[in-house]
Amino acid sequence: MIRTVLRMGDPRLLRVAQPVREFGTRALDELLADMLDTMRALDGAGLAAPQIGVDLRVVIFGFDANERYPDAPPVPYTVLINPELRPLSDAIEEGWEGCLSVPGLRGVVPRWNRLAYRGYDAEGRLIERVAEGFHARVVQHECDHLDGILYPMRVRDFTRFGYTDVLFPGAAVADD
Ligand code: NI
Repeated sequence: MIRTVLRMGDPRLLRVAQPVREFGTRALDELLADMLDTMRALDGAGLAAPQIGVDLRVVIFGFDANERYPDAPPVPYTVLINPELRPLSDAIEEGWEGCLSVPGLRGVVPRWNRLAYRGYDAEGRLIERVAEGFHARVVQHECDHLDGILYPMRVRDFTRFGYTDVLFPGAAVADD
């Protein structure tokens, strides 16, 4: 079921979300199905449970091709529960981000370029991966949602933060 995505200003987006303690449950499966339906309907690159008002440390992300990020390489569809991130180098990369909770806007955000992430799937199986570039960026963006952080809070250069259609006139970038 497609759920309403909370928008910036809603205090539920600012909570530190709770860890999932039970895996393989129907409730968790339903949450993940709703998150996938919602992410696909809005053509998002990822979605975190707090964005639909669910106070749990659950994110999903991934796509083959994404209209909102036409230059991004594919990222495998991933369910990541109780995630932990660890940078693998000090290298920071700047890149454009948008967010379904901040519709119509884009900003340049500094992120670690290369990191290891681990977490669990819906059945509680361990997932461990190394990611870089846009894949690493998406993971950091989604996991930030679990700590109540929205990407505008990480923007350093506000000359590169604005309305998508003004920043990229005529571009085939969907308006969130
Ligand atoms: Ni977001």
